[in-house]
Amino acid sequence: MDKIKGLIFDLDGVIVTTEHNHFIAWQRTANALGIDFQEEHNELLKGVSRADSLKKILDLGSKSISSEEFEALLKSKNDFYVDSIQELNQSDLLPGVLDLLLKAKSKGVQLGIGSSSKNAKFILTLLKIDHLFDVVIDGNGVTDPKPHPEVFLNGANALGLKPSECIVFEDAASGITAAKAGGFHAFAVGNPHIAEMAEKYFNDLTEFSLEAYA
Ligand code: BG6
Ligand code: MG
Repeated sequence: MDKIKGLIFDLDGVIVTTEHNHFIAWQRTANALGIDFQEEHNELLKGVSRADSLKKILDLGSKSISSEEFEALLKSKNDFYVDSIQELNQSDLLPGVLDLLLKAKSKGVQLGIGSSSKNAKFILTLLKIDHLFDVVIDGNGVTDPKPHPEVFLNGANALGLKPSECIVFEDAASGITAAKAGGFHAFAVGNPHIAEMAEKYFNDLTEFSLEAYA
């Protein structure tokens, strides 16, 4: 393995607990459409863009709706979700995140975010960790969402690193697929369902030792 010079983090479910807020907001949207939506269905949505998530929910219920209704549901889902995260703060960071970010900074390892969320910058500001990242690539700057590798390739490019010099941390199948497709080291965190797909698996980031890689 090349010496690791960059760490690129997914946001929801890797840095912060917001994946549950997405689930609750999608469940509410699905139920309003008369579609049953449980945690196992949400697994298919993790890491997936907002619009692609709604398409998957409609497929689940074999429903089709007008483009106006589609846009209105995207907006109401996001309004509900954003309302639910207003109180987010550093206590919502997942275990080991802050220590790892600070350690990486002190070793000169570059830090990036590669997220499908259009709310990523807002969330990083609420968490007061935005200043720690050298680059933030989010759902606003990407043409092909995960499982396409674009979000991570743009991140590595902005850091001036080769994919093989970066570890991507992910909690979603779509994200591990994206990272592997881009030639990154794809490490899974906190979601045992995707452990087999990944190069390494950690229950949380306290189990990851930067010294072993950088
Ligand atoms: C991903 C989440 O990070 O972002 C998904 O895993 C979410 O659950 C997606 O749907 C899009 O987020 P947003 O904030 O742009 O609706
Ligand atoms: Mg995630």
